[in-house]
Amino acid sequence: MNCIVLYSSRTGNTKKVAEAVCQGLPAGTACVDVKEVPADLSAYDYIFVGFWVDKGNANAEAQEILKNLPACKAGIFATLGADPKSEHAAQALANGAALVPEGVTVVDSFICQGAVDPKLIEMMYKMFPAGSAHGKSPERDALHAEAAKHPDAADLAAAKAFAAGVLSKGQEA
Ligand SMILES: Cc1cc2nc3c(=O)[nH]c(=O)nc-3n(C[C@H](O)[C@H](O)[C@H](O)COP(=O)(O)O)c2cc1C
Repeated sequence: MNCIVLYSSRTGNTKKVAEAVCQGLPAGTACVDVKEVPADLSAYDYIFVGFWVDKGNANAEAQEILKNLPACKAGIFATLGADPKSEHAAQALANGAALVPEGVTVVDSFICQGAVDPKLIEMMYKMFPAGSAHGKSPERDALHAEAAKHPDAADLAAAKAFAAGVLSKGQEA
C-alpha cells in the first residue's frame, strides 16, 4: 500500500499536523510540501492532502493539488483559527473535499485549530471596527488566545489516529 502526505503551510501549523498524519501511516511514508509535489502521483493508493483554511476554503496552493489528484483514496486534513467544531470548520473541510475530481474517494477528513499569525490579527483589528465579526472584542481575543495553543499534543494524536483510520476504512470501501 503506497501512501503520501502532501501539505501546504504558511506558518507551520499544518506542517505539524501533516507530520503527525505521517506517523499514523506505514514507515517511510513521505511528507511533502505542496511546493515539491512529485509530478506523477499515480503510483499512490492513498493521498493525504493538508491545507490551512483561507477565507473559508482550502488555501490556493492546496486547491490546485486537490483539483488535480489522480484516482486514489484520499484523506483531507486542515487547520484553522476558528473553533474546529464550528459550522465554518465543517464547511471549509467540505469545500476542500468538493474540489477533488471524479475517481477520488475522500475516505475521511480531519480539522483542528491552529495559531493565527499575530500580524493577521493586528491587521484585522485595524481593518474592522471593534466589536464587529472580525474586529477586536473579548470573544475574538479569547478565540485567538485559544488558537495560539494549537495544534497541541491532543490534536496531533487525533491526526495520527485519523490517518490510521483512513487506511482501515479505505480497505473496507
Ligand atoms: C489570509 C488568511 C486567511 C485566513 N482565513 C481563515 C478563515 O477563513 N477561517 C479560519 O478559521 N481561519 C483562517 N485563517 C487562519 C489560518 O487558517 C490558521 O491560523 C492556520 O492554522 C494556519 O496554518 P499554517 O500555520 O499551516 O499556515 C486565515 C489565515 C490567513 C493568513
